[in-house]
Amino acid sequence: MTTGARKVAVIGAGNVGATCAFVLAERKVGKVVLLDIYEGFAKGKALDMSQGGRILNYDGRVTGTKDYADIAGSDVVVVTSGFPRQPGMSREDLIGKNADIVSQVGEGIREHAPDSVVVMVTNPLDLMTYHMQKITGFPHNRVVGQAGILDSARMTHFISESVGCSNEDVQAMVLGGHGDTMVPLPRYTTVNGIPVTQLLSEEEVMAICERTASGGGEIVKLLEKGSAFYAPGSAAAIMAEAILDDRKRVLPCSTYLNGEYGMEDIYIGVPVILGKDGVERIIELELEPHELESLQGSGAFYKEQLGSILGY
Ligand code: NAI
Ligand code: 2OP
Repeated sequence: MTTGARKVAVIGAGNVGATCAFVLAERKVGKVVLLDIYEGFAKGKALDMSQGGRILNYDGRVTGTKDYADIAGSDVVVVTSGFPRQPGMSREDLIGKNADIVSQVGEGIREHAPDSVVVMVTNPLDLMTYHMQKITGFPHNRVVGQAGILDSARMTHFISESVGCSNEDVQAMVLGGHGDTMVPLPRYTTVNGIPVTQLLSEEEVMAICERTASGGGEIVKLLEKGSAFYAPGSAAAIMAEAILDDRKRVLPCSTYLNGEYGMEDIYIGVPVILGKDGVERIIELELEPHELESLQGSGAFYKEQLGSILGY
């Protein structure tokens, strides 16, 4: 990680990127640079956020740009640039267009922020994270994807509604790819230490797992234009903060596996320790055979696409 004042760049000033930058500014993490191909879009949102600093009591240190030279010295770069889903689209439908954008952005990061940790958000997340690592050539621990925090937060929300308890007391665990193959794990989900299975029926838990796996699509359908951004932008900000503050947070993230969970050469969601070096440790949970099979099935789905669509 670079030295001096802490700096985070957010690439893409759209819904997710702007939300992420706003949360980072509000949490006073350091300098925030917002970059978009549309310069005015990035500059306008950055100015708006800077002016909001007086109201919410943070320093106006958000700047907007389209120039990669301005991300130099960033400790963390969050990548949100890319097309979101529209109703009827899967995340995988975005592969071609977004891979080109990720290539362009990756080259900018490699040249101007070579010591940064990259937090990917662009969909399809696990494939784009793999692609970003290839483009930058960064060590695998310095390229990580955001999905598990969002997916677990969705599961948490549904559980807290069903149990009738605070969100704050629910700890949910969702592994696997960020898509229909994700793997919610009720066995690792508790309400302040109480297994969720003691508070809800098997049918209720199953329904929550299904709603979690299609949680992004539910919002796409409601919005009719674009996809979720408040929770996703916040989740990416929390990852950036964990890295900037060397928090060593235990979070499910899309991470490069090299034998862990019986999978190789793939990015997929598993719990990790996130600190200043990015992914500092991969945690291997003890899984029941059916859980491991679902996780490996999710990995196999993305592995096939890495080869057949992205040519890896
Ligand atoms: P958006 O359309 O609001 O914003 C995308 C921004 O990227 C636009 O401002 C656009 O100008 C910019 N952009 C496009 N090409 C660029 C380039 N080459 N360089 C810099 N900026 C560029 O979309 P939104 O809603 O912010 O979503 C962004 C991405 O995040 C999508 O791919 C979406 O599917 C994904 N996403 C991922 C989630 C996750 O959990 N991993 C959750 C939510 C969204
Ligand atoms: C989400 O899960 C679309 O990936 C986005 O909301």
